Amino acid sequence: MKEGKKAKDRLIKLFSILIFSTLFILFFPYKEEKVYRMRIGEIPQENIVAPFTFKIQKTEEEIEKEKEEILKGASFVLSPILRPSIDSEVIKLQIENINPVIKKTFLREAKKLYKEIEDYVIIENPDTIRKKEAKFVILLTPEGDKIFPSEKIMSMEEIRSMVKKRAKEVFPFDPQLSFLFEELISPFISPNYRIDYEETELRKEKLISKIQKYRGIVYKGEIIAKKGEPLTKEEVEKLEAMEKFKDESFFSRFLKFLKRYILVLLVIFFGYFSIRFLFPEIYGDTKILLIVIYNTLLFLLISGILIKLTNNPFYIPFAFIPFFFYFVCGRRFGVFITIITAIFTAIYSGMSYFFFLFFILIGKSGILISRYLRKRFDLILGFLFLFITSFILAYFFTSYMGFQIKLSEILLSSLISSGVSIIGIITLLPFEEKILGITTDFILLELSSPDHPLLKRLEEKAPGTFEHSIQISELARIAAERIGANPLLAKVGALFHDIGKTENPKFFIENQKNPAENPHDKISPTVSVTIIQNHVKKGVELAKKYALPESIIRIIERHHGTLLITPFYEKAKKINPNIPEEEFRYKCPKPEKKEEAIIMLLDGIEAKIRTLEKYEFQSISETIDSVINHRFADGQFDECEITRKDMEKIKYAILPILIHRFHSRVIYPPLKVKEKIV
Ligand SMILES: [Fe+2]
Ligand SMILES: [Fe+2]
Repeated sequence: MKEGKKAKDRLIKLFSILIFSTLFILFFPYKEEKVYRMRIGEIPQENIVAPFTFKIQKTEEEIEKEKEEILKGASFVLSPILRPSIDSEVIKLQIENINPVIKKTFLREAKKLYKEIEDYVIIENPDTIRKKEAKFVILLTPEGDKIFPSEKIMSMEEIRSMVKKRAKEVFPFDPQLSFLFEELISPFISPNYRIDYEETELRKEKLISKIQKYRGIVYKGEIIAKKGEPLTKEEVEKLEAMEKFKDESFFSRFLKFLKRYILVLLVIFFGYFSIRFLFPEIYGDTKILLIVIYNTLLFLLISGILIKLTNNPFYIPFAFIPFFFYFVCGRRFGVFITIITAIFTAIYSGMSYFFFLFFILIGKSGILISRYLRKRFDLILGFLFLFITSFILAYFFTSYMGFQIKLSEILLSSLISSGVSIIGIITLLPFEEKILGITTDFILLELSSPDHPLLKRLEEKAPGTFEHSIQISELARIAAERIGANPLLAKVGALFHDIGKTENPKFFIENQKNPAENPHDKISPTVSVTIIQNHVKKGVELAKKYALPESIIRIIERHHGTLLITPFYEKAKKINPNIPEEEFRYKCPKPEKKEEAIIMLLDGIEAKIRTLEKYEFQSISETIDSVINHRFADGQFDECEITRKDMEKIKYAILPILIHRFHSRVIYPPLKVKEKIV
């Protein structure tokens, strides 16, 4: 059965890695790296000859610049408007009564002026053209396009004032005639052209489409750069063009893809094996391992999309990684996964060392902040700190590297990256805590508060047990830290491990103020042992009632394993020497996880040290050894991966604390510290 489960777990892990790598490659926002590495001023060791004919592509900026030039210089297109020609008969009729000599002058001048006006282009809105400072416009005439100088374009007002001026010149001494002249000409003045916006746009597009993508050609055999001569800008451009041209072939594109795939797989396998050997507790827990894989993948996909949309890696919500994994898997793993994802995101950002460093620093700040976040509300403060840190880092990095990014964009990207990180935590953490039943440090931190009703109840009803739990909790934290288990889980587990004793507190020695009033004296050892055994069952019941996480319930359930309750067994044996030992053992599961084993061990050590008559260094050290040896000999750690080496580490971690705790009463031995545990 167990083998079957292991095989299934292995299959799930393998499948997840496959999904991970494939999706990662599919959504890879790969940026072209610079292909030719030679720089201006570098001296080639030999002549560089073009191995094939290739074109020199213009850069996107160059094409963009050309486009701008075209748009700036593009001429307006003007279409003609039909207008009435001057009707001499109408004029003649109007000036019938005028002196015939003047009439002749009148008609002659009118015709002359009208002819002049016809040379102008009159439009309603010449300002539109003047604003663009275009020197010419294109007139659509029946004979075809005609280039026309913009300065000769007039507005209606300008023509009218010209007529007025001319009227005064023709009849300088007769204002009446001059007025009549003006009045008779004016009705025949109207716009003869209009700006044809549609045609103007069409022609602009046509011009843009004609922009050449290449600005030169290098023929096979041509010497691109000469041996011993520093490379010029043009030569470097040619070399880059050559490499780029090479890259465009299908084979080279395939090779590039393969290279990228292998690189990604290498990082994935590096990460996978690092987890396997450095974090066995995470590797062994399929649920947590899947959370690691899928959350990292989710992060990388969101980052990929953001890079594709914005083309700016500063938008990547990198702090999500250290925050999330700090709370789910602890600080050490948080640091590890930060480094792995920084490698991925740096690959995303065009293989940039710069971005690797940037993400590492952001990650480090994330880890740093996480230490101070105690409640979910603190995440808001975390966001502010993160936003300011990202902004300052991005600002200095961009100025140092000479990136052309606007300050407003740095501000916006810092805001979005910090915001998405925090929103990710706020939405994903509770979801994964509930649905997947994982215990995050957030839950544990909330539980470790002395205000928790169960701890208050323990303090009130069983102060001795409460004191004992507090004593163990600090030792448990240190022990767990030393052997790479979860320190916060061990600490909180220790606080709650004996909550079942709140039911019959006086039956437990630590709560008996006066040893003479031991309630066990009045009852049979079989009844006593039942009461003692029941504290585990009761503890589990209370934990479930108060919705403590599964990992804490497991600690409560397993902290005595199948240990023998020796005093009552001895007492019972005196009455009936043949009484079976089994009846005086706890009937609970044995510890499986390191944290569970730590609580069992420290529970025993703490209880035994209290019974010592003399607090000598030697006696404390021996007590620890004897409890460790007993638990192993009794088979209590048979189902747990904890080792003798772990135990040795725990011993030397807690020994100084225990000595310090009882320091006034400790008698130090002559130097004999590192004794071996057997
Ligand atoms: Fe207990
Ligand atoms: Fe205990």
